[in-house]
Amino acid sequence: MKNDAHELARLVEAVLQSPKYKHVCPEVVRNIGARELATRRNWKEALKATKNKLHQVGGAYFDAGTRYSQWLDALKRAAQIADHTLLRHICMEIMEHHSSTRERLGILDQFYTRTLAGLPPIHRVLDIACGLNPLAIPWMGLDKDVQYYAYDMYTDLADFLNEFMTAIGVQGRAYACDITHSPPPHQADLAFLLKSLPCLEQLDKSASLRLLEAVQADYLLISFPVRSLGGREKGMVQNYEERFWELMSGKPWPVQRFAFATELAFLVSKPEC
Ligand SMILES: C[S@@+](CC[C@H](N)C(=O)[O-])C[C@H]1O[C@@H](n2cnc3c(N)ncnc32)[C@H](O)[C@@H]1O
Repeated sequence: MKNDAHELARLVEAVLQSPKYKHVCPEVVRNIGARELATRRNWKEALKATKNKLHQVGGAYFDAGTRYSQWLDALKRAAQIADHTLLRHICMEIMEHHSSTRERLGILDQFYTRTLAGLPPIHRVLDIACGLNPLAIPWMGLDKDVQYYAYDMYTDLADFLNEFMTAIGVQGRAYACDITHSPPPHQADLAFLLKSLPCLEQLDKSASLRLLEAVQADYLLISFPVRSLGGREKGMVQNYEERFWELMSGKPWPVQRFAFATELAFLVSKPEC
């Protein structure tokens, strides 16, 4: 079908009007919509396919809904009284609402301590396709003056994370963007690409490699899920690991591998940055 500017604008508007997708960054809707308009038989099919894709790469993970203002009230109260145990407890409760962070809760106490042990002090972090992972900042052992930059496709999530970081006294910023088209402009010591590559490859198979090459960070922590959202695990780890080594082929970047019960992680050193 013809992909003219008017049809695309109409499609973006229709997607953003639906309650489920109104907080998706327009750039993401435009990029997916343009591809679907180019390949589907008509506008209606392209609209449906765009919504399906948005669900697959974003909505499906927020399977327990969001209550941003309620969460912020609780976080601000705990931060004000400097109750760190309570703050961690609230962060854990919030992380339950995104399937990716929920799967990490059982290994949270070891995930960052094991993977980041031995790194020089971390002053600047990029969290790419972050979901609710910034809520794990209290477990990361980062420098107290760390600057934390987070990127995901939802505007309301970015607003929430900005208020969260202000509440807990972390400098940085969260952005809503299409990370497959706009790699982070910031330079950092460490970049998290946690469980995000398979997801981004559903939008564009070449996005992972482009992103790995474009990210300006000394270390990349890249991880993969060990089972699908539907609970299947047959052959998944092996496929993801093969894909990871394929992405690394020809790169002179040292790699450390970490296997956890619910996640497979690789710490990649990109010394030329
Ligand atoms: C599998 S989740 C991983 C979340 C987080 N990194 C973690 O491990 O807890 C993938 C995330 O990518 C985000 N996402 C998907 N496509 C994106 C895009 N094109 N640009 C930015 N974020 C995107 C989704 O909203 C979702 O939060």
